[in-house]
Amino acid sequence: MTSRYRVEYQLKSHRRDELIEWIKGLLAVPFVLHADAENHLRTTNEANFQSTDSLSSLPQRSFDKLEDQVAMECQKRYAEVFRDVEKLIDRTIYIDKLNEGLIVQHPESRLRKLVPSVGKFFTSLPLVEAFLIEDERRFISRRRLVSPSFNDVRIILNTAQVLALTKIYDLDNHKADRLKLITFDGDVTLYEDGQNLTPDAPVVERLMKLLKLNMFIAVVTAAGYPGKSGAENYYYRLKGLLDRIKESDELTDVQKENFFVMGGESNYLFRYNVRAGKLVFIEADEWYPPLMALWSKFKINYIMDSTYEHLLLLQKRFDLVDNTTIIKKERSVGIIPNKGYKILREELEEMVLSCSNKLNDILTKLSSDLFSIDTVSDHQERFTRRNSLVELTQDENIRVCAFNGGQDVWVDIGDKALGVELLQKFLCREELLQSCPILKSESLHVGDQFASVGANDYKARLSACTAWIASPRETVAILDDLIARMEDIVN
Ligand code: IMP
Ligand code: MG
Repeated sequence: MTSRYRVEYQLKSHRRDELIEWIKGLLAVPFVLHADAENHLRTTNEANFQSTDSLSSLPQRSFDKLEDQVAMECQKRYAEVFRDVEKLIDRTIYIDKLNEGLIVQHPESRLRKLVPSVGKFFTSLPLVEAFLIEDERRFISRRRLVSPSFNDVRIILNTAQVLALTKIYDLDNHKADRLKLITFDGDVTLYEDGQNLTPDAPVVERLMKLLKLNMFIAVVTAAGYPGKSGAENYYYRLKGLLDRIKESDELTDVQKENFFVMGGESNYLFRYNVRAGKLVFIEADEWYPPLMALWSKFKINYIMDSTYEHLLLLQKRFDLVDNTTIIKKERSVGIIPNKGYKILREELEEMVLSCSNKLNDILTKLSSDLFSIDTVSDHQERFTRRNSLVELTQDENIRVCAFNGGQDVWVDIGDKALGVELLQKFLCREELLQSCPILKSESLHVGDQFASVGANDYKARLSACTAWIASPRETVAILDDLIARMEDIVN
C-alpha cells in the first residue's frame, strides 16, 4: 500500500531503523543518477546521441543490451556504496575495541557520528558480497522505477551477517571463533503470530539440521509460562519440534540436550531432557545471576501494579473495555484482544509508547527520593515499605521492556538482551566445555521485532549478532543459507 497516510506513518521515528534508512538514502543517489536507460544512452554515447532519439525506436536486441549495461553500471555503483559502508563499520569496530575500558575515550567513529543510534557490531559485515548475492535474487540493479528499499537493505544486512558468521565457522579448531548459539524469537519468527510450531513447518527440518551440526539452539520468547508447569505450555507451542527431537535417531543425546527455551524474555529456563523425553524446568538458583536474584520483589510488584493500572486507563480511553482483556502474570502485564476482535494498529502503537513512557516514570520514581516512606501513613504499610526500601537500595536496575506484539501489548520484567546473555553464561557454567566461552560474536539471534521502540528483539542486539526477519518464510531462507555454508565447510 502506497498512500500519503502510509508514507507519513513510516516517517514516525519509532518505526524506523536509522542505519537501514541511512544506507537506503545512500543507495538512492546512484539510483537517481544511473538507473535510467535513456540517461545512460545519452551519457555513454554522447557523440552519436540525437535529441530526437527515443528508446522505443531501438531494436529489441539493442534495448536488451542497453538494459544490461545500465544494470551493470547500477550494480557497480551500489557495490561501491556497500564497500564504503563496510569500511566505516570496520573502523567503528576498531575504535570500539580501542575504547574498551578506557576512561578517556577516542572520538566516536565517523559512522557513529553520522548515525548516532547505531549499535555495536560484533563482526565485520561483508556487505559487497552480500549485496551481490541478493542482487541475483532480488534484481535490485535491474529496477528502473523502484529504488533499493528498506527491505532490500534489511535482507542484505542479514545475508552479510550470515556470511560473517559462517566465515568463522571452524569445526576443527575449538579455540577459534565460531558460531555456537542460535536463538530464535517465537511468534512471527518460527511460527505465524499466535500460532504454534507444527510438525510440517519447514523450519523444523532446519532446526534439526542445526542441532545435528552441534549448535546450541534456543527459543527466546516473550511468552511467559512460569515454573515446572510452564514446560507443558511450551510443549504445546513447540510440539512440532519437540516430538521430532524425541523421536530422532539421527541426533545424539548430547545434541538433543542442546535445545533450550528461555521464556518470559529472560525469566524461565527449560532444557530438553533425554531421560524425561521432554522439556524440563531449570530452577532459578542454577542459572540466575546474583544481580537478578537481588531484584526486589516489592519493586517488581510495584512495576506490575502500576502498569496494570495504566493499561486499565488506556483500555478505557480507547473504549476497549468490552473487546479486550488485561492479563496480569507474576512478571508481565498485557492487553490482548478478545476472540474475533482486532485492536487497531495505531491503538497498539499508542499503548506501547504510552507504557514505555510510564515505565520510565516508574523507574525514575523508584530510584528517587520521591518514593519515600514518609508518604505512607499506615503504620503496618510503613513497616513493609521500610523493609522494601532496604531491598530497593540493594538491587540494581531491574530490566523491563514494553512491546507491541502485533495483536497485543505487553510489559515484561526482563528483556531479550538478558535472556540471550544468560543462556551464553549458563551453557558455560561447566567451564571445561570445549565451546566456552560463548562470545557475542559467536551468537546469533533471529527475530522480527527490531524497530527501536516497542519491539522486544531489539534488545537482543546488545548480546548477540542479529538477523531481522519479517516472516517464518524468511527465517527458513536465512537458515538455508547458513546451513548450506556450514555444510560446505564441514564437507
Ligand atoms: P515472541 O514473539 O516469541 O517474543 O512472543 C510474543 C508474544 O507472546 C506476544 O505478542 C504475546 O502474544 C505472547 N505472550 C504470551 N504471554 C506473554 C507474556 O507473559 N509476556 C509477553 N508476551 C506474551
Ligand atoms: Mg516475535
